[in-house]
Amino acid sequence: MASLDTAIQELNPKQLEARGEQLRQEGIVIRTYDLWKTYIMGDQEIHAVSGVDIEIRRGEYVAIMGPSGSGKSTLMNLIGCLDTPTKGLYYLNGKLASEMEDDELARIRNKEIGFVFQTFNLLARASALHNVELPLIYAGISSQERLERARRALSSVDLEQRMHHKPNELSGGQRQRVAIARALVNHPSILLADEPTGALDTKTGNEIMLLFERLHEEGNTIVLVTHEPDIASQAHRIIHIRDGKVDQDEITSRSKN
Ligand SMILES: Nc1ncnc2c1ncn2[C@@H]1O[C@H](COP(=O)(O)OP(=O)(O)OP(=O)(O)O)[C@@H](O)[C@H]1O
Ligand SMILES: [Mg+2]
Repeated sequence: MASLDTAIQELNPKQLEARGEQLRQEGIVIRTYDLWKTYIMGDQEIHAVSGVDIEIRRGEYVAIMGPSGSGKSTLMNLIGCLDTPTKGLYYLNGKLASEMEDDELARIRNKEIGFVFQTFNLLARASALHNVELPLIYAGISSQERLERARRALSSVDLEQRMHHKPNELSGGQRQRVAIARALVNHPSILLADEPTGALDTKTGNEIMLLFERLHEEGNTIVLVTHEPDIASQAHRIIHIRDGKVDQDEITSRSKN
């Protein structure tokens, strides 16, 4: 493994592309090679992510867990194509995202990634249906198909009855379900959730975790960032992050394999 990782830095563009194709065929949705994100603060260098090698397959349900400041959000921003690494390689569904320019990153992000945030990030003035429709507008899909797909996504999170409600006419759990429907409506390669239960009470948080479990059973790939062991233990695998590095990679008792 180590020799392979060293060698990949020496591949030419054609070989790098071939490696991506190989990863895609093997069903590896996320693969990082010696990934770094370094921030410069005055004369200080902060290595928020320092040499991370992770591999996540299609259909996995993974929690990324670690203490405050360990680099979880920074890593999630890299995985979610919201930021580019200082060093290293990142393949998303076979494509070398670490080499992409901003416009290409925005495109791959919209196509491959569904985001779920702690505070839902819904448009306050828009109905649930319109909120879910939004990613399809950016993707240039016709209005009739948009409506059809947004309805189906809302129905998959049991919210068909509430689709004309605005966020302030919904409960916290319902808002998060709208956000999950919005994340799923483009059929992304991964569902990326940052502390998705952080703003919810325990009971509602548990309902959202049950929904993630069901979405995973239906074949979705889920990566969840959390600092709560209770939440992380509901995933099937936990990647522990400490000081910007992978500290431990653990299969949980939820995993049937
Ligand atoms: N834009 C930035 N500029 C400089 N340093 C940063 C920046 N963003 C993050 N850091 C530093 O990088 C490290 C990792 O931060 P990060 O936000 O990824 O941690 P985290 O694991 O998400 O923490 P939390 O659980 O508190 O959200 C921290 O030491 C932080 O201070
Ligand atoms: Mg964070």
